[in-house]
Amino acid sequence: MQRLQDRVAVITGAGSGIGLATARRFAAEGARVVCADVSPEAGKAAADEVGGEFVACDVSDEESVRALFDGVAERHGRVDIAFNNAGISPPDDDSILVTGIEAWERVLRVNTTSVFFCCKYAIPHMQRQGKGSIINTASFVALLGAATSQIAYTASKGGVLAMTRELGVQFAREGIRINALCPGPVATPLLMELFAKDPERAARRLVHVPMGRFAEPEEIAAAVAFLASDDASFMTAAQFVVDGGITGAYVTPL
Ligand SMILES: NC(=O)c1ccc[n+]([C@@H]2O[C@H](COP(=O)([O-])OP(=O)(O)OC[C@H]3O[C@@H](n4cnc5c(N)ncnc54)[C@H](O)[C@@H]3O)[C@@H](O)[C@H]2O)c1
Repeated sequence: MQRLQDRVAVITGAGSGIGLATARRFAAEGARVVCADVSPEAGKAAADEVGGEFVACDVSDEESVRALFDGVAERHGRVDIAFNNAGISPPDDDSILVTGIEAWERVLRVNTTSVFFCCKYAIPHMQRQGKGSIINTASFVALLGAATSQIAYTASKGGVLAMTRELGVQFAREGIRINALCPGPVATPLLMELFAKDPERAARRLVHVPMGRFAEPEEIAAAVAFLASDDASFMTAAQFVVDGGITGAYVTPL
């Protein structure tokens, strides 16, 4: 499928996980991919692999994000797709009883304020074009509560969801579609390593997944490519859930 032929697509956090899988998928569908990441090694490796461009960017820094989108528009003439995906989930973000204000503010800044910046600086280019697709990464934890809390992360993703809905509505008549992606847990190497060491921890989570497994990054990337493409032309202000059935489940199969 070449649904993204010659579209200029910016991916934040393109160096790893969902962002990297999406860079590969976008390139396979014909897009010109701009890989933005705070890690130069990871970001550059991703860009080299997909024949794209690497831009060093810290999404929590307003000037860095402005330079990213204005630079892409200047060099490539347009910004068709913005996948605002970079995010963190650090270990010092835990139960509200032990999480400090420093961790809270850091997580909100990288996960939510970053999406505010990315939309703020991508939308004007899309307004000029009269077309664009923005996908903001939220999470299934924006829809469900967990007793294994990461309170700042959960709040940050709830913020992404509400902000996306509002922006989707505001710009709907200008040809700009803005959707939130809610992935379920993804089988990243880091997570798998953690669960291999602690099978009980994995089992406690897997029991809630009707499909009985975590997602592969490529399965999330396929959903992003759909939202980015004209196949999703009647979708905006939506929460697009890709979670193996978690949010639909009460009792899961044995
Ligand atoms: N992995 C999951 O299970 C899961 C589930 C739901 C939602 N998500 C969300 O999906 C997104 C991607 O997750 P992932 O698991 O692929 O993450 P990851 O840790 O594998 O990759 C994140 C990338 O973002 C980059 N990054 C971090 N801080 C940055 C910053 N300030 N500026 C620019 N880049 C920065 C990192 O260098 C890294 O390359 C995140 O928003 C995450 O919250 C992940």
